[in-house]
Amino acid sequence: MDFTLTAEQSQMRQLVRSFARDVIAPRASEIDRTDRFPRDLIRQMGELGLMGLPIPEAYGGVGADYLSYVLAIEEISYASAAVGVILAVHTSVGTFPILYFGTDAQRQRYLPKLASGEWVAAFALTEPDAGSDAAAIRTRAVRDGDDYVINGNKVFITNASDADLFCVFAVTDTRRGKRGLTAFLVERGTPGLVIGRKLEKMGLNGSGTCELVFEDMRVPAENRLGQEGEGFSIAMRLLDGGRIGIAAQGLGIARAAFDAAHAYVRRRRQFGQEIFQFQGVQFMLADMATKIEAARWLVYHAAVLRQNGQPCTREASMAKLFATDTAMQVTTDAVQLFGGYGYVKEYPVERYMRDAKVTQIYEGTNQIQRMVIARHLPRA
Ligand code: CAA
Repeated sequence: MDFTLTAEQSQMRQLVRSFARDVIAPRASEIDRTDRFPRDLIRQMGELGLMGLPIPEAYGGVGADYLSYVLAIEEISYASAAVGVILAVHTSVGTFPILYFGTDAQRQRYLPKLASGEWVAAFALTEPDAGSDAAAIRTRAVRDGDDYVINGNKVFITNASDADLFCVFAVTDTRRGKRGLTAFLVERGTPGLVIGRKLEKMGLNGSGTCELVFEDMRVPAENRLGQEGEGFSIAMRLLDGGRIGIAAQGLGIARAAFDAAHAYVRRRRQFGQEIFQFQGVQFMLADMATKIEAARWLVYHAAVLRQNGQPCTREASMAKLFATDTAMQVTTDAVQLFGGYGYVKEYPVERYMRDAKVTQIYEGTNQIQRMVIARHLPRA
């Protein structure tokens, strides 16, 4: 398989890289410290087309291919993993649901606003007692005339502090298990939608992770996404793509940590020489670089499969598993190479390490990715 980037993909990567380094990177530490959702940056990203990169031009997007979108997440996460996840969730599991499963009316109503960055989207699947076991959700949607009445709770919802549109999953038929789940599009401001507590996290500050409460929330039936009972399948199909995005986020974080550590060991002198000269340091860097390279090919391979419409569930999970484990290992080693300076906030590597951790957890823990991979192994 040839991964040589086309002229358009290279150009797009250059554009995003420049924006990420000139505009996002100088803000990354402040976003981490204040834990404030960077709405102004999101607006700027919208003006550049980044909030609707893979969305067709007919709906106000750029119409770029999927690999271009994945490259954009990687470059943005290099500068700020928090801004990277805002973009990834907004697009992969916030906007794609409407593009793939929405009616014409839903597409016309929502896609232009989301693609322009005027609106931000969120994905509300996880509940306090339904994380890895996504089908165990208890949020209930009951049909009442032309509406559904929804009651329940969600937790760990990325972007929720500022999201304008939520893709909400609820049980419409308690007797049908996984086939009793249904997806709904819920606008901010809908009576009964309560944006709950914002969660204080180890890292990825600024991504507005909140609880949600639905109290007799009335949603018009025209806001149902797909048919009743299709919710679980919709969630799983979205997560196949979403996981490639999170893999790209891990890759971006790992590359940032590697570059910082590499530059540092070339200037830090101990025992009369730059510490890069010590073989122990060189071996660490060699391992870090090799894992990053392997992660890059897994991520791009999964992205190209998806772009070509080929099955990619297993490859998406492999990319997510390997790239995010790499992010954790590389950022931890980067902190080690910086020594005491790695542990203080004057340097960015401690943030990279805190941000990397959650990539092994969300959009399916890396244990869940292993389950998915094992289930998709070809029979010997
Ligand atoms: N594509 C299409 N359909 C799929 C699918 C896929 N990738 N995976 C499963 N399905 C279908 C199956 O074919 C099956 O359909 P039938 O009933 O018609 O046969 C149905 O879904 C049930 O599948 P399983 O029996 O495999 O379901 P399961 O309960 O054993 O587990 C799981 C599936 C993979 C463990 C799933 O529950 C899972 O992915 N869990 C992790 C949840 C997760 O990733 N949450 C992320 C939250 S969002 C987030 O993190 C966003 C953020 O903030 C960054």
